[in-house]
Amino acid sequence: AKVRHLKWEVEYMHWSPDDQEGVVIAINGQFPGPTIRARAGDTLHLHLTNKLHTEGVVIHWHGIRQIGTPWADGTASISQCAINPGEAFVYRFKVDRAGTYFYHGHYGMQRSAGLYGSLIVDVGEGEKEKFEYDGELSILLSDWWHKGSREQEVDLSSKPMRWIGEPQTLLINGRGQFNCSLAAHFSNSTAAPCKLRGNEQYAPYILKVHPNKTYRLRIASSTALASLNLAIGNHKMRVVEADGNYVKPFTADNIDVYSGDSYSVLFRTDQSPSHNYWLSATVRGREPHTPPALAILNYLPTSPSHLPTSPPPTSPRWDDYPSSKAFSHQILSLPGSPAPPKTPHRRLILLNTQTYINGYTKWSINNISLTLPTTPYLGSIKYNITNAFDAKSPPDRAPPGYNVMRPAPNPNSTYGSGVYVLEFNSTVDVVLQNANALKDNVSEIHPWHLHGHDFWVVGYGEGEFKEGDAAGFNLRDPPYRNTAVIFPYGWTAVRFVADNPGVWAFHCHIEPHLHLGMGVVFAEGVERVRGIPNEAIACGLTGKMLMRNGTR
Ligand code: C2O
Ligand code: CU
Repeated sequence: AKVRHLKWEVEYMHWSPDDQEGVVIAINGQFPGPTIRARAGDTLHLHLTNKLHTEGVVIHWHGIRQIGTPWADGTASISQCAINPGEAFVYRFKVDRAGTYFYHGHYGMQRSAGLYGSLIVDVGEGEKEKFEYDGELSILLSDWWHKGSREQEVDLSSKPMRWIGEPQTLLINGRGQFNCSLAAHFSNSTAAPCKLRGNEQYAPYILKVHPNKTYRLRIASSTALASLNLAIGNHKMRVVEADGNYVKPFTADNIDVYSGDSYSVLFRTDQSPSHNYWLSATVRGREPHTPPALAILNYLPTSPSHLPTSPPPTSPRWDDYPSSKAFSHQILSLPGSPAPPKTPHRRLILLNTQTYINGYTKWSINNISLTLPTTPYLGSIKYNITNAFDAKSPPDRAPPGYNVMRPAPNPNSTYGSGVYVLEFNSTVDVVLQNANALKDNVSEIHPWHLHGHDFWVVGYGEGEFKEGDAAGFNLRDPPYRNTAVIFPYGWTAVRFVADNPGVWAFHCHIEPHLHLGMGVVFAEGVERVRGIPNEAIACGLTGKMLMRNGTR
């Protein structure tokens, strides 16, 4: 195992993710940020300088559990202070497990501003994957707005709230088309065909393959909002990995990818080599106002400029929830994977509702909308600074009798910054309970992501979770992952072991939802945390403490 040294500068940059120029947050002049590639067991030593001039920044390593390094998790107000403009921070952590991951900003709406990239961990030296392939490709999915992320933040926190709306463009490896279409000659749309020389920043991403080989395609989604469906024209996919864990392989024509998910699929280049094929990503779960993103699967030696001769693959309708549920239910762990403990010590039932606070639109969990404190929890809990956040823990469940199928009779909630303190090494069940939003007959998809752990997705259900539903949990082969989706008007249950000392976010991965309070904070074994670097907590009340102690 090696220590890999990286030096990053984070900075705004003019760029054209689609055919309109905008401003992105770039890393070392690249958008998306550089792909990190390491081997399991390596340590990343990443020196990050914030050159955003007027804005703090942090970066979260999504899917990396940060065992023993909770201060490197990159969550502003939770694991560290935002890195001030002009200042630097060293992220040093071990990538202990092979898999497909990504990284992204975790402050304000910086994911929507384009602060993300891929993080790929290969198996350790001399080790082998549990499946074989000849070549590898990788795509990172995202969504893009023409309105800047700062304006989006103001819009979201206005009274009445101005919703950010659907993205203008979906991006594959940072590339999409807005005003023109690559597939104009197939569709009945009015979009003009793109006139591309091929070197434009928004030219489609080209996946180069040789005929008659098996490829591993790594897929991750850092979208701020969109749930996606991915398909490769004329090719079937075999799903083998989800969020860094092996799954029982199964074949699919198309796969759903929610924000925060990552997958590996295998496919065989068994089609006519004199053509190219489309890879497409389309919107799921929200009535789409955004055309599909397209990339080109280029069979060598055919020229990549030969557009595919067949139309882009068809995806299920945006509101075909039965097909999305069927897909999610198909994801099970590979035999031999870690099995969940048989019984939990504690069960939380987290009711997700859309609410108002003094006329501001919010998302709330058990009627509390998360507001992050100025002092990072990791520091204030470790050093017993009791006035840094709400002393009272949020409730383990919402009051009984809430009708999840209807808008709330009283849609008002309150702000809160309390944490769920989990007993170290205990087994925790969390039932994520979806409900009707503010409007009649609206309930949305929410992909929930847990920091610092993987969880077993032990059950899905419709309507209100009932005590007896726990008897039906799948403890035999539940998938082990870090992101799980809740479907409209349904619930999803996950189980995990609170064995990683630190303070960890658990939240909806839709960035504006998190921004509006849709998350909770877990703390476990913080007294065991050793070696928090001063720079991680040199703000707020822990900053004052360090000054008093003369350590700053
Ligand atoms: Cu990828 Cu807290 O998120
Ligand atoms: Cu959400």
